[in-house]
Amino acid sequence: MILPLLKTRFADALQTLASDADAYLDMIRPSQDPKFGDYQANMAMPLAKKLGKPPREIALQIVEQLDIADICSPPEIAGPGFINLRLNDDCIQTLLHSAIADGERLAIPNVDSNKRKTYLVDYSGPNVAKPMHVGHIRSTVIGNALARMLRFQGHHVITDNHLGDWGTQFGMIIFGYKNYLDADAYQKNPVDELSRLYRFVRQKMDEEPQPESINAAVLRETAKLHAGDPENLKIWQEVLPHSQDEINRIYQRLQIAFDHTLGESFYQPMLGKVVDNLLQRKIAVETEGAVGIFFNQEKVPMLIRKSDGAFLYGTTDLATVEYRLDTFKPDAVLYVVDFRQSQHFDHLFKAVRLMGVDDVELTHVKFGTVLGEDGKPFKTRSGDTVGLNGLLDEAERRAYEIVKENDKDNTPEPELRETARRIGIGAIIYADLSQNRESDYVFSYDKMLAMTGNTATYMQYAYARVRSIFSKGNVDVENLRNTVSRTVLRDVQGAVANSHPAERALALELLKFGEAIDLAVRDYRPNVLTSYLFELANRYSAFFEQCPVLKAEDAVRTGRLLLCDLTARTLQKGLELLGIETVERM
Ligand code: ARG
Repeated sequence: MILPLLKTRFADALQTLASDADAYLDMIRPSQDPKFGDYQANMAMPLAKKLGKPPREIALQIVEQLDIADICSPPEIAGPGFINLRLNDDCIQTLLHSAIADGERLAIPNVDSNKRKTYLVDYSGPNVAKPMHVGHIRSTVIGNALARMLRFQGHHVITDNHLGDWGTQFGMIIFGYKNYLDADAYQKNPVDELSRLYRFVRQKMDEEPQPESINAAVLRETAKLHAGDPENLKIWQEVLPHSQDEINRIYQRLQIAFDHTLGESFYQPMLGKVVDNLLQRKIAVETEGAVGIFFNQEKVPMLIRKSDGAFLYGTTDLATVEYRLDTFKPDAVLYVVDFRQSQHFDHLFKAVRLMGVDDVELTHVKFGTVLGEDGKPFKTRSGDTVGLNGLLDEAERRAYEIVKENDKDNTPEPELRETARRIGIGAIIYADLSQNRESDYVFSYDKMLAMTGNTATYMQYAYARVRSIFSKGNVDVENLRNTVSRTVLRDVQGAVANSHPAERALALELLKFGEAIDLAVRDYRPNVLTSYLFELANRYSAFFEQCPVLKAEDAVRTGRLLLCDLTARTLQKGLELLGIETVERM
């Protein structure tokens, strides 16, 4: 990796100028324009201000103290004091060499052991017994990508699916089960019958006139369940696994697995104690029978027990925090949840601080809404929210059409299907991750499956295209990699940095992979990684247009083949970190 290398050198150079260099080191960035070199260091300006000296003078001083000749050409000072850095070809080659030789990690180091943290990632958390809908995809894929990236960086990551398995939706199901169950249908396909019941009761509750009686009945069934009524508990225990099957099928399709699935029901036995304890410690107060936590200057308290004794979503989350801190001792807990729950998490975090816990990072990794092409929350034509399984089916179906149409080699049907699966599912995942997570985005099959542009399909296609070079040229990739790792790079790859700007640009981009992961993780933004992959694929295209590979000779050919191979591996690894599979042909 380049940036850490530059930072170390600058850290030394800054020693006499700044006591706390970290913030200044963050001001070393890739240059926007190759005119200004490959990287740019912009700390001279703020530093000069602090020291009351002209910025160019400070820049000069930094450069004088900078011991960097082995990796860069002499730094140039531009404008008011920008320090422009251009990596020398030797350095690029050495770094490329280590990336090529490291099959597993592409020479991206693990975080230093003193920076290694335990992250608990709370994501997906659908409310079971309700059909899972498009909104749940966001939490599921963002959480999964973050967990993978953090793990790749060498952190200890624990994933936990906080299933909504105890809410009013069960009152609805139990009410439906008791009054409207079609026993035959249930026997044949419990999952379908249960979602029919859910929708049926939902409809009745929304119906005029007299929805109150149904609403009251549903609430009564929920309350009875929560109070431990044996009949309702029995129904709950019976239907729960069916709804979980349904969800697990989706996880399987998305290739997602959790370390723990501790749903809301798991915490129920702890809730009474949590509230009592908070009352005792005077963190919570009782008013008119209800118990809440009040925060300075805020009118709305966090309610943790209603006057009828019922506990709330937040109560469960408080118990969950306690349990997690005790059990997993995390340094950070990430909640990947819809932005509409911002107030909930704001309150939850404040409550946790009031409880005296301040050495753990608590972050609400929030995301926006999935919209239909009409700009409104994504619904089916009938106005239902769109079920997730149907959504995945449709993406796979459309991917199959594309794959079938492009297939010129009479690929066997099962392989076509598998390719379509990877492309369809990948498209959905990528479309979601490539958005700034805090904005809403418009769900569009056509856009997400486009062969050009910032899509998984384009990235998968780029990957397959690179791989095809090796079969076309009859190149044994393993062999190629081994040769290079045993050879002095300069001999084999002398051409890389000298011959063509497009080659150099590609090489440099390849070396920024680790930086992209760092940045993506820093703000919990997978779209930083998708942007990087898009940029890489574009650099590759430019390279491929301008630099013949198989037709080149000797060292140039080898060098270019190695660049192709590293591009493929970087794309593959990057997609893997996002939870997306590649295909060898398409
Ligand atoms: N079940 C919740 C929902 O669907 C999400 C759970 C998020 N996690 C948590 N610890 N509250 O909105």
